[in-house]
Amino acid sequence: MSIYDGVCAQLRAAPKVWLVTGVAGFIGSNLLETLLKLNQTVFGLDNFATGHQRNLDEVQTLVSAEEWTKFTFIKGDIRDLEACKAALVGVDYVLHQAALGSVPRSMADPITTNSVNIDGFLNMLVAARDAQVKSFTYAASSSTYGDHPGLPKVEDLIGKPLSPYAVTKYVNELYADVFARCYGFHTIGLRYFNVFGKRQDPDGAYAAVIPKWTAAMIKGDSVFVNGDGETSRDFCFIENVVQMNLLAATTSNPDARNQVYNVAVSGRTSLNVLIEQLKSALAANGIVYDQRIEYRDFRAGDVRHSQADISKASQLLGYKPEYDIRNGIAKAMPWYVGFLQAN
Ligand SMILES: NC(=O)c1ccc[n+]([C@@H]2O[C@H](COP(=O)([O-])OP(=O)(O)OC[C@H]3O[C@@H](n4cnc5c(N)ncnc54)[C@H](O)[C@@H]3O)[C@@H](O)[C@H]2O)c1
Repeated sequence: MSIYDGVCAQLRAAPKVWLVTGVAGFIGSNLLETLLKLNQTVFGLDNFATGHQRNLDEVQTLVSAEEWTKFTFIKGDIRDLEACKAALVGVDYVLHQAALGSVPRSMADPITTNSVNIDGFLNMLVAARDAQVKSFTYAASSSTYGDHPGLPKVEDLIGKPLSPYAVTKYVNELYADVFARCYGFHTIGLRYFNVFGKRQDPDGAYAAVIPKWTAAMIKGDSVFVNGDGETSRDFCFIENVVQMNLLAATTSNPDARNQVYNVAVSGRTSLNVLIEQLKSALAANGIVYDQRIEYRDFRAGDVRHSQADISKASQLLGYKPEYDIRNGIAKAMPWYVGFLQAN
């Protein structure tokens, strides 16, 4: 039995109370689905800034009626301290996902990104500390590596941030660390590297590359690559991220707490290779995409290469990603085909 299987078995045997912020979003709704399937009680906080009611509706169809009764949705904004406090009553574990993602969004509107990602984060930290939760696990970001050239990325070696978004995610880490030092509060930061999977939004100017290109290919539209396509990323399937959140939140290893961890698979896939992988996964679902790929300028704020060293998470938390990019895409693709053909 893996360490993660053991954690799931323990949670099933002794259910806990969780708060997932950003629950109507991509990662939050996947956390919700897994927690409910493990018979946990879940409170979810979201203001639908980028999340959708349809994600919650879909989770409802994937869990039993009894499991769904254990979910309480609270519509609220993390910039409202009272909303954060109300959502935290009786909570054991916090999985804080609510934020405004996207580097380009933060370039276009740094003020809103700052207020949600920093003021909102601090509200959640203060409210969670006061509610005496067992642990506070939060979504950090690989963007914190900024201009540091080292590969693979190790947690202690970071460079200067390359975007307002990266600044906000780094400030989150600083606040979490200081709350551990000043108040003895248990925090764990998870630096996600390009997460993908079902319910990741394919629409809008700030969509992530996998859902955006998948949608374009299914609709027969052009696929645009920023740069020469040799930019590379450590794409991480959502189920690895869910695993890491549960391991982090419930760890009883004192050395594992008050740390930040890379969450990825330690792979490195160029955008050109990604396109071929998406095309072949689509072909396996009966869709052939044979249009020419369009290359354009590099995008400001993007780092050239990204790849995680995941040994810290593996040693301290027993993290063992079950999916690489190929089997993750294979698992995600039927959902995208169904979703995009229905919408
Ligand atoms: N997806 C990735 O590849 C990735 C990579 C690094 C970090 N992250 C981080 O992971 C977290 C989740 O990202 P995601 O991909 O699921 O994005 P998402 O946009 O799908 O989810 C974010 C959720 O937060 C909610 N939200 C935003 N502002 C809020 C506010 N003021 N009050 C309450 N709720 C609010 C949104 O409505 C949405 O449901 C974010 O913190 C993001 O920065 C994601």
